[in-house]
Amino acid sequence: MKIVYTLLFTALAFINCEQAPSENTENTHTVSKEKKTEEITTKNKTEVIDEHTLSNYNEVASKHLDLDLEVNFETKSISGVVTHTIENKTNADKIVFDTKYLIIDKVLLNGSEIATYKLAPLDELLGSALEVNIKEDTKTVSIYYSTTEKTEALDWLVPSQTANKTSPFMYTQGQSIFSRSWIPLQDTPELRITYAAQIKVPKGMLAVMSANNPVQKNDEGVYKFEMTQSIPCYLLALAVGDLEFKALDDRTGVYAEPAMLESSAYELADMGKMVDAAEQLYGPYQWERFDVIVLPPSFPFGGMENPRITFATPTIIAGDRSLVSLIAHELAHSWSGNLVTNATWNDFWLNEGFTVYFERRIMEEIEGKDYADMLALLGFQDLERTLKELPPNFQKLRLNLTGFHPDDAMTDVAYEKGYFFLRLIEEKVGREKFDLFLKEYFDVHKFQTITTDQFLAYLDEKLLKPTNTKLNIDEWVNQPGLPENCPKIDAVLFDNVEKQIALYKVDYDPSVLKTDKWSTHEWLHFLRHLDNSISKDQMAELDAKFNLTNSGNSEIAAIWFEKSINVNYRGIDNALKAFLNRVGRRKFLKPLYEALAKTPEGLERGREIFKASKDNYHYVSSNTIEKILGLK
Ligand code: BES
Ligand code: ZN
Repeated sequence: MKIVYTLLFTALAFINCEQAPSENTENTHTVSKEKKTEEITTKNKTEVIDEHTLSNYNEVASKHLDLDLEVNFETKSISGVVTHTIENKTNADKIVFDTKYLIIDKVLLNGSEIATYKLAPLDELLGSALEVNIKEDTKTVSIYYSTTEKTEALDWLVPSQTANKTSPFMYTQGQSIFSRSWIPLQDTPELRITYAAQIKVPKGMLAVMSANNPVQKNDEGVYKFEMTQSIPCYLLALAVGDLEFKALDDRTGVYAEPAMLESSAYELADMGKMVDAAEQLYGPYQWERFDVIVLPPSFPFGGMENPRITFATPTIIAGDRSLVSLIAHELAHSWSGNLVTNATWNDFWLNEGFTVYFERRIMEEIEGKDYADMLALLGFQDLERTLKELPPNFQKLRLNLTGFHPDDAMTDVAYEKGYFFLRLIEEKVGREKFDLFLKEYFDVHKFQTITTDQFLAYLDEKLLKPTNTKLNIDEWVNQPGLPENCPKIDAVLFDNVEKQIALYKVDYDPSVLKTDKWSTHEWLHFLRHLDNSISKDQMAELDAKFNLTNSGNSEIAAIWFEKSINVNYRGIDNALKAFLNRVGRRKFLKPLYEALAKTPEGLERGREIFKASKDNYHYVSSNTIEKILGLK
């Protein structure tokens, strides 16, 4: 009952979000309303309001961070000092930072003057504003602090949760609004910062950041970093562990635990080709190196585009390089997202929709059009499924997230509806013109942020008007659902799979299936077509023939488990338990726990598995799963 209630409540809250901010964000709501009435129009840019920060970045902005931190695995905390170099644009007498679950020890101005400050009561969604009184001559603000057990960005792993099982591990996840929980800062994508860092870690461990990185351990365990290109602070990232590096070519390479290094390097061997292909499409790669760190399996995402070092899940190491489009995706963010950044989380589709489009173009260059079409069709299937589940407000490209955590609305709509919108424009104006437009878009807006309105105005001026193209833009951007003119994908490589599905569905005899040369994607297409009318016995027969329960491919295993749960095929039970215990990637966990939660018996089982596995999940995932299981 509780779960039904929670889900219902969530749905109602979604639908009502425009009128009814939840209690714990009332504070923000009022602040933003005040700010809105005094919206300032500068030359040709209306000042943007980011409702997910408590900071006063529009008045006085932090421009550069110097971090001097120690990572302590015994206390599971990071402590030290962050010094902000500030720009006081309005002669403000205080600077406000975002913090969440941090302990603030003291604050100094200009390196030595003791500052007075106030830490506001906690807002569950946004954290605690740290207000520091400043003076006319204040150039720097140094905050001495430490993280706590509750810090949401950090995942602390004991040796048994790592690949080598000998050393602990720690990594951060900043996007969307978690950076404030490991560094006091002005946590808005609107603002860009540069940073330098000195990080002390236990001996025998290596630290890497979204900056220039060391390639081997040193004896002191002190590592220095610099990021001289300006980035939004959700891209601040740190990982510490028993890490080794292997170069792939002169600008790409892999960091991983020793036990994962060779297999990761094999899987990701094509990274250099991807960077070349991306540059051919939309201009020079701006971040010098493109390295990937393969993290322990608790990492809650597939990948995270931290500049110069993408963070990746080990679940893409399939042994056959079949899941590397994820790397193309994170690489594409080096343009869409990291170079040209969504101004607020309401504009998230500008990051992800563009990136999916770019990812598929990179894959088309490397693997050919038929391959990219398979990806697009699987993406379309994801989108259809998501649209069935989401309340209307969250089916729009332009979001209104007042009162919501941005992560709750980061769905396939931004990724796939965004992709199909861009693909539609490509089809209307022709690829040549669209590519020129995109290349210029990235160049003109590099190291800047952009809102949906600014993008639409730019699109109209530079592409639609000159080509006399008419488009139902409002329907795509501001309305729920999928417009009629959504491009249709014909994935020829799936034609054979569809024939096989039809044959198989005649009397569900697996021996008629010819699957010899099927790639991961063909298997996914096939498995997605198994509906709930299939019986447990028929599932067992498929399993006996293809051993799907023990597939080493995470994508295939995940969809197989989900279908099995739906029809109560229990041959998966042990493997499912082991999978949910090991893997913390939210994209896999969510549908599996949701499928379990559909029946009282499954819910009970889900709760048991979750209890035993929770420590292997990052906060981002455990928080989502607790809601699904009615535990929150
Ligand atoms: N930037 C996202 C991950 C993210 C999104 C983190 C929202 C926090 C909030 C990353 O680029 C991404 O989209 N990852 C996908 C991979 C993909 C190929 C679509 C993932 O993790 O599944
Ligand atoms: Zn992405």
